[in-house]
Amino acid sequence: MSGSRKGPVWIIVLVNFVILFLIVAYVYPPTTSAACSIFSSTECTFTFRKQPLAPKVPARELTDDETISQVVISEILRTPPVESNNPKIAFLFLTPGTLPFEALWAKFFQGHEGRFSVYVHASKEKPVHTSQYFKGRDIHSKSVVWGKISMVDAERRLLAQALLDPDNQQFVLLSESCIPLQNFDYVYNYLTLANVSFIDCFVDLGPHGSGRYSEHMMPEVEKKDFRKGSQWFSLKRQHAIITMADSLYYKKFRYYCKPNMEGRNCYSDEHYLPTFFNMIDPDGIANRSVTYVDWSERKWHPKSFKPEDITLEFLRNLTSIDNVVHFTSDSKRVLTGPCMWNGIKRPCYLFARKFYPETLEKLMYHFSNYTTQSL
Ligand SMILES: *[C@@H]1O[C@H](CO)[C@@H](O)[C@H](O)[C@H]1NC(C)=O
Ligand SMILES: *[C@@H]1O[C@H](CO)[C@@H](O)[C@H](O)[C@H]1NC(C)=O
Ligand SMILES: *[C@@H]1O[C@H](CO)[C@@H](O)[C@H](O)[C@H]1NC(C)=O
Ligand SMILES: *[C@@H]1O[C@H](CO)[C@@H](O)[C@H](O)[C@H]1NC(C)=O
Repeated sequence: MSGSRKGPVWIIVLVNFVILFLIVAYVYPPTTSAACSIFSSTECTFTFRKQPLAPKVPARELTDDETISQVVISEILRTPPVESNNPKIAFLFLTPGTLPFEALWAKFFQGHEGRFSVYVHASKEKPVHTSQYFKGRDIHSKSVVWGKISMVDAERRLLAQALLDPDNQQFVLLSESCIPLQNFDYVYNYLTLANVSFIDCFVDLGPHGSGRYSEHMMPEVEKKDFRKGSQWFSLKRQHAIITMADSLYYKKFRYYCKPNMEGRNCYSDEHYLPTFFNMIDPDGIANRSVTYVDWSERKWHPKSFKPEDITLEFLRNLTSIDNVVHFTSDSKRVLTGPCMWNGIKRPCYLFARKFYPETLEKLMYHFSNYTTQSL
């Protein structure tokens, strides 16, 4: 008699288990996105963003400092920045002294008061300012040696000063030989509407890339994580704060990435931020800079433009480049790809370097004609 009822009982038990499972799954939604869309009534993107963003399943036991660093960084990445009623762009000028293109920048800033702030780090001598936008904007500065950590220290000093103003939302690093390539509105919208930081970052397996890596960076920074990129960044506020909060990875570069160390030359300004952000928030960076520079001659320093190079056609050409090119040192590979901005292909560059001071007059003359694009 029990034999004939065995089947239905098992079916009922099974059905009950399935129902219970569905209820539990509904109340405690799983956090993987696929399961999320099947079971959960809550917003998938919400549960997805609550996942830790820093290194997932560690292959080894983390050191105390790494755990502390991971906690701080994930917390900052997960906290949406406080909205400002008056978002500004901070222009951070890293220069030895007087800025040769102040007049050109003044033309660029004019009429946009209140939407930007200027900070000048002069590493050699006190600059003579001619423009109202630059007067009184020098910050406490120290000397900078090319290729040494003092360069990164100057960048951090500029970021710290600019972060004091809560309205600053984007932080653009520029040198004395940089010029604006687009008008202010274009630059402002390009940077403030983008959801990423523009940090140049690529893999170079050659002597001027991974060849500069030192095993002393282990275990925190492995060779496979080592990246290269030009230092001219534009950081979101969140990323600028993370840069301030980091001491663990900064120290690795301070002590083990320097010129003339164990028979090789490593330059922290070309490796620290690309490597660091590639490790902690790879999807949050565009992997390219918004500052154009011409490395095509493959020399130690990029090409510098002279007055005879400056024509309207040349400048318009720079403003319309929409593919990024990275020259590597491993059998001279060239990496290229489209410049994407919020999912759309757009011109890559907002600024350009390096220009000789003598080009100023011609740049001033052409400025209003080469900066006519709108986003
Ligand atoms: C930047 O490169 C990393 C991998 O190196 C990739 O995961 C990330 O999606 C890239 N960022 C963008 C915005 O494409
Ligand atoms: C501008 O770009 C065009 C098309 O790529 C090229 O033929 C021309 O030589 C460039 N002009 C200058 C001055 O760079
Ligand atoms: C930024 O926006 C693009 C396109 O809308 C999107 O694919 C990407 O995931 C976003 N990145 C971040 C870090 O939110
Ligand atoms: C700028 O463009 C205007 C209108 O197209 C033209 O009249 C003027 O000559 C141009 N100026 C220069 C410096 O090329």
